[in-house]
Amino acid sequence: MTTTTAVQGPPLNLPIAQLTDSAVDFAAPDGWEQALRLGAFLLPVPADLDAEPGLRLCRNFYLDPDGGPDDRYRGHRTREHAASKLGYEDRPDQVEQLQIESIHWDKYFPEDVIGLLQRMRELTLSALNSCLAASGVPERDWDTVTGGARQETGWCYTTVNHYRAGLSRDHGIVEHTDSGFITVIYADQQGYEILDGERWRPVEVPPRHFVVNLGDAAEVLTAHLPRAAGAVIHRVPPRPAPVANGDRSSFTVYMGPRMDMMLYQYGTDGVLGEYQGFRDYSVEKSKKLGYEFHSRI
Ligand SMILES: [Fe+2]
Repeated sequence: MTTTTAVQGPPLNLPIAQLTDSAVDFAAPDGWEQALRLGAFLLPVPADLDAEPGLRLCRNFYLDPDGGPDDRYRGHRTREHAASKLGYEDRPDQVEQLQIESIHWDKYFPEDVIGLLQRMRELTLSALNSCLAASGVPERDWDTVTGGARQETGWCYTTVNHYRAGLSRDHGIVEHTDSGFITVIYADQQGYEILDGERWRPVEVPPRHFVVNLGDAAEVLTAHLPRAAGAVIHRVPPRPAPVANGDRSSFTVYMGPRMDMMLYQYGTDGVLGEYQGFRDYSVEKSKKLGYEFHSRI
């Protein structure tokens, strides 16, 4: 991934999708075309969904319990998360991050957070299925290529991020693509940017909207289909110092293949074939980009 020539471009308005029943669609006729080309779109947060428990978790998970009302969100830095292959990490860029698979949410999170994440999981699955359909992936292949996202046997986890502001080092999230099919993100502040051609463009996210990213597994799968999905290159630049808006909180739900699975790809003849083991693919990617691969996977 080379972006040394990339320059800062003007803000970008991503296409805005709508969620109806269990499908995601666009009112604009070219909505899907744009979303698949960019590898990103916006999705309104359903009116009856409260994002506050997620933000409360982001603002507390890395702190030690102190006997106060936020204790059930705290203490994750020192907790073992033995059931999870992911867990807590002090990261070199943004400082603190917690990742827990959906099958373990009930072990580690308070009830309000579990309820929110489960709704997000359903919504992420709807968005994933709609993206597969829009790219021309036949429904009969969905379970094979996702490892059974519909049966919750694929790989789904949440990432909880705390981006510190006002530190002397640069902190943010360096440019990357997500490795899986799809990531749905909620953040309490702007800061998300995507690489559009040769330009880094800040995305203006309206209040109460999720950002939806498409990742490598979707790009590999659909590369030779007439409506290919792109994996969006994105980043969160360092928070400015001195502190303007305070720290930035975000939480996501990710869906991808399991590490013991193959990545799949349709050939130019439209036939589905195996591409590469997802674990091998992920290890190679981490070496190329110079980050450490998850130690427990
Ligand atoms: Fe990402």
